[in-house]
Amino acid sequence: MKTTGGGEEAKRRAGERAAELAEDGEVVGLGTGSTAAHAIRALGRRVEDGLEIRGIPTSYGSADLAREAGIELATLDDALPDLAIDGADQVAGFDLIKGGGAAHTREKLVDGAADRLVIVADPSKEGKTLDRPVPLEVLPSARRPVAEAIEGLGGEPALRAAERKDGPVVTDNGNLVLDCDFGRIDEPADLAGDLASIPGALEHGLFVGLADAVFVGTEEGVEERRR
Ligand code: A5P
Repeated sequence: MKTTGGGEEAKRRAGERAAELAEDGEVVGLGTGSTAAHAIRALGRRVEDGLEIRGIPTSYGSADLAREAGIELATLDDALPDLAIDGADQVAGFDLIKGGGAAHTREKLVDGAADRLVIVADPSKEGKTLDRPVPLEVLPSARRPVAEAIEGLGGEPALRAAERKDGPVVTDNGNLVLDCDFGRIDEPADLAGDLASIPGALEHGLFVGLADAVFVGTEEGVEERRR
């Protein structure tokens, strides 16, 4: 599973604390990334100890990890999640940028369907405002018109290149990712609406108004912010 840096211990604390929230009989959305991976492993340990849950993964990576951890898998056709635990690339208040692992389309589906969404992060993710490039999953045939639409919105799109493959990243859904740099994002809800209206752009990585709680691991413990 991809690692994005940040303190591993802080990620572990945040992930393990969030995993304590799952209750018997619940369906849990399983996020993607190195911090959510700590939560998945901790859930797996709780399952070994008798906790009965089903997990809905947000990527091939989180599905594999959940299987290894002994968590029974389900889909959104089976049930909607009671709880989802997911990471983020940047957090400002309860607004997020996600998609550093190119999983944001399924993450938004699962996280958005959950009764409660808990975001787990290390302190390097926190900022006063969002300003990282926004990942946009794009149909391969729509790459050029979507890139032009992004420029029309004042952004700079960059096709995400694969690291251990020639050419672009191809998502779990068979699409491309444009990382769209808008500089400082003062009105994330407005930008989210603009991005959502571009034909051929399947999903963007702005998560506005979805998170119910943000757990940030620190050197000493976990800071919990709840709405
Ligand atoms: C996956 O596409 C992302 O949305 C991840 O949730 C995000 O990249 C967080 O990853 P880390 O926990 O590894 O930083």
